[in-house]
Amino acid sequence: MPDWTEELMDDHGRIERALAMVERQIQRSDDFDVVTVGALLEFLFEYGDRYHNHKEEAALFPLLGERGLPTEGGPIAVMLAEHDAERDYLQKLLLTTLAIREHRQTPTKEYRDTLSAYIELTKSHIWKENDILYPMGRRVLTATDKEALIAQFRALDQKLPYSGVGYVERWENLLTAVETAGGGRVDLLASLPTDTVRAMLDTLPVELTFIDAEDTVRFFNRVYEKKIFPRTLSVVGRKVQQCHPPKSVHLVNRILSEMKSGARHSASFWIPFGEYKEMLLHISYYAVRDPNGIYLGCLEMTHDIAPYRALEGASRALGDM
Ligand SMILES: [Fe+2]
Ligand SMILES: [Fe+2]
Repeated sequence: MPDWTEELMDDHGRIERALAMVERQIQRSDDFDVVTVGALLEFLFEYGDRYHNHKEEAALFPLLGERGLPTEGGPIAVMLAEHDAERDYLQKLLLTTLAIREHRQTPTKEYRDTLSAYIELTKSHIWKENDILYPMGRRVLTATDKEALIAQFRALDQKLPYSGVGYVERWENLLTAVETAGGGRVDLLASLPTDTVRAMLDTLPVELTFIDAEDTVRFFNRVYEKKIFPRTLSVVGRKVQQCHPPKSVHLVNRILSEMKSGARHSASFWIPFGEYKEMLLHISYYAVRDPNGIYLGCLEMTHDIAPYRALEGASRALGDM
């Protein structure tokens, strides 16, 4: 049987991880990452308040009241007042963070101070619950109460988005992703094994090839599968110019130099293809850039779009196409 204090303290653990990452951002003088802070504040509001505080307010505190703890003037009243204060801070901070992000403003001292005040309040609130209120609760609640409390928590889950299925996992994944990225930009791939990333790329119904900023072929998907344009591993490490017939090399060079200069972001063409021209190949090239716009390379995507051309009207049958 899961234990109610363990569950609530696990929640606290996640909240504290998010607080620590916001703190790290406040200490950064020049590269404050407003997107990361926005995601963490959303976590603190959705998970910390609407999920965790709500379990306390709707289930734990009333039960402690029934078992004799004063609900007015005692520790429960203090906890409720602090929840209100946390909510006020979060609502204000979420709005300001959104404005900073939209208008690309530099966070003001007042904004950073408000973040710090919210963090201090929440940390001391968690400490009071872990060390004072929950131990009090463990003393007054009966074994039946403890079971009923867990059942009430699960009933509250049903009112969460997605009926509570995977709710905790979803937020846990976000926290891990932010932590893995070192508290900088959120990197959702950082928490995925390479095998999963490769399987994702191989699942796409397209052939992908990536050449780096020096025009060297570095990657193609579906390595071991039959492809429209057969490729073997020996192509990796070669210059892209060596992979094209001489008469089209000047075109390849022009597209790449325009991508490198920033004058062009993509290029595409389409041709009938196959023994009976049964395919319509759409071949496109995209400049791949980092968040600062630095050119990292070019992604080629080959896609048979003939099946899409045959589509008409609407279908909700969820078939293969
Ligand atoms: Fe609380
Ligand atoms: Fe709490």
